[in-house]
Amino acid sequence: MDFKRSDFPQDFIFGAATAAYQIEGHKFGGAGPTHWDTFAAGPGNVVRAENGDLACDHYHRYGEDLDLLKNAGMDAYRFSTSWARVMPDGRTPNPEGLDYYDRLVDAMLERGLQPFQTLYHWELPSALADKGGWQNRDTCALFGDFTDVITDRIGDRVTSIATVNEPWCVAYLSHFLGHHAPGLRDIRATARAMHHINLAHGVAMTRLRAKGMDNCGVVLNFDHTEPADDSAQAASAAATWDAIMNRWFVEAITKGSYPAEALAGFEAHMPDNWQDDMAEISQEIDFLGVNYYTRHKVTTDTNAVWPHIQSDEGPGDKTQMGWEIYPDGLHSFLTRLAQDYVGDLPIYVTENGMAWDDKIENGAVFDPVRMKFVSDHIMAAKRAIADGANVKGFFYWSLLDNYEWAFGYEKRFGMIHVDFETLKRTPKASYHALKSAIAR
Ligand code: FCB
Repeated sequence: MDFKRSDFPQDFIFGAATAAYQIEGHKFGGAGPTHWDTFAAGPGNVVRAENGDLACDHYHRYGEDLDLLKNAGMDAYRFSTSWARVMPDGRTPNPEGLDYYDRLVDAMLERGLQPFQTLYHWELPSALADKGGWQNRDTCALFGDFTDVITDRIGDRVTSIATVNEPWCVAYLSHFLGHHAPGLRDIRATARAMHHINLAHGVAMTRLRAKGMDNCGVVLNFDHTEPADDSAQAASAAATWDAIMNRWFVEAITKGSYPAEALAGFEAHMPDNWQDDMAEISQEIDFLGVNYYTRHKVTTDTNAVWPHIQSDEGPGDKTQMGWEIYPDGLHSFLTRLAQDYVGDLPIYVTENGMAWDDKIENGAVFDPVRMKFVSDHIMAAKRAIADGANVKGFFYWSLLDNYEWAFGYEKRFGMIHVDFETLKRTPKASYHALKSAIAR
């Protein structure tokens, strides 16, 4: 790798990220059914209709996984606490679930790993999905109750708390494009989810502040968007897409408003009096989490419904997901976010990584493309720091190969290989390379 730890400020954090449903094994410990279980059981939604029942069995093997993280010399672990494990029906606490997160956090602290918690990383309890999920405003207050229950149990030991992971995916990808649970393609459902997920963030912030919690924020995903050509149509398509993907959530949270280019399509379908919620949504945060993966080139699609966008991958090399590798996009977001939205507020790269069709050969995995990917993106973060962005840490996605949502177990993002038959863990070459870079 082209960087070393000593190139970064002394308090810079290196870590890896996961999410509960993707690794734990949802069938264990009294967790309740979620909309991801039922989405996976529907026709054509998920590769081989795979779900998170067993996943990486992290529920039982977390000790081994945290040892691997510790042995890589990492400082922190970004994990999520599953609402459906803590409250199987979305409302009633499950002592087994709370005990599990208690043990997990203690296991991090025993190893000197800082716990970076995310409250919502996508597996909504089915009982709440039955009542409309994120289309229903009531889900926001119930999310506040979940925030209270889990924080009362582990809030004394976590380093930081992010409310929601990637609201764009929760709302637009899941309710308009239909690629994630609940798999809708409905603009009214989308407009409501686009607002309610922000309100859920705001309600959770209110509850956390009432408990005196600090180091609270949100994790947003950003997609580097460029016009596909020099035409006025492409420029306007890129502006609209940037507003929907990259500006909607950060503007609501940092400025209390929605960008006009996106509101134009959603306004007729927004919940009544949505403006009254903007103050709660835009209360102060302590950090911004940035998830960054790729770039898209966009232009107008005249045959499509609003927002009339056709989006294609850029020309560069692609990962196993087909996503273009474009490290400059990370530098560009980190500097843009600092300049336009958060100023000096700490920014963490909470996810960045790539999938590859990794194979075990002679007991090892050689993944040079990932080594270069990680190195180039961490160098992009370093350049952003030099250019004024207050970037405080970098979390690789993901610690382990895991359940990649609609792609099932097919796409391997881990720095540790998982054999999904035997559940054996094998650190990849990129794990060893990262370990030596952060030891220097
Ligand atoms: C992000 C998600 C994460 C993982 C990566 C590849 O959108 O937050 O759970 O699936 O993409």
